[in-house]
Amino acid sequence: MIIKNVSLDIVCGITSTLPDTELPEVAFAGKSNVGKSSLINALMNRKALARTSASPGKTQTINFYNINDAMYLVDLPGYGYAKVSQSVKEQWGKLIERYLQKSKQLKAVFLLIDIRHDPSANDKMMYDWIVHNGYQPIIIATKVDKLKRSQVQKHVKALKQGLELLAGTQVIPFSAETKQGREEIWKIMDELLFE
Ligand code: GTP
Ligand code: MG
Repeated sequence: MIIKNVSLDIVCGITSTLPDTELPEVAFAGKSNVGKSSLINALMNRKALARTSASPGKTQTINFYNINDAMYLVDLPGYGYAKVSQSVKEQWGKLIERYLQKSKQLKAVFLLIDIRHDPSANDKMMYDWIVHNGYQPIIIATKVDKLKRSQVQKHVKALKQGLELLAGTQVIPFSAETKQGREEIWKIMDELLFE
């Protein structure tokens, strides 16, 4: 995809009704601070349209980024953020759940996992839940710039085992710093949506 124009079109909070959109959507799920908003910026060739933060819990709404009036990249709030109250966590969880279950335009779900760490129980739950809803998530192993090149395969293997990925599930190492993996992710989205 050649990026011509991008804009933040729709922001959806815990009390909002989900939008009735016309364009195909792909969503990015993952733990707080894993790099969802940074990935979306990298995909859009923007530095900061999607707001990022070194402290977790930055994205608290579902944000729909319109790409060339052809599709939406959907930035989800992160799960597992310790500092918010249980009731807020539950509300964000319900919002994400509602979106993943109800969206008619959702064509693919990417699940982001920090390549440095073994997947958490929440990551596993999210993976299983996405599968349960009929999607075959594509895994993005983020922050690969933080590992030595020689360590990458070992961590990818641990991630596959930790999540008990279904055979054939793609795992793409990605870095928002070096943009490694960006082209591969666009290729997958182009194939899924436009071919
Ligand atoms: P929430 O909105 O809180 O759920 O977080 P998020 O998943 O959107 O993460 P965000 O993109 O805000 O990134 C969190 C932190 O990780 C920021 O300080 C980013 O600069 C950093 N970060 C994200 N991606 C990468 C990466 O590929 N490499 C490195 N080194 N840092 C990254
Ligand atoms: Mg975010």
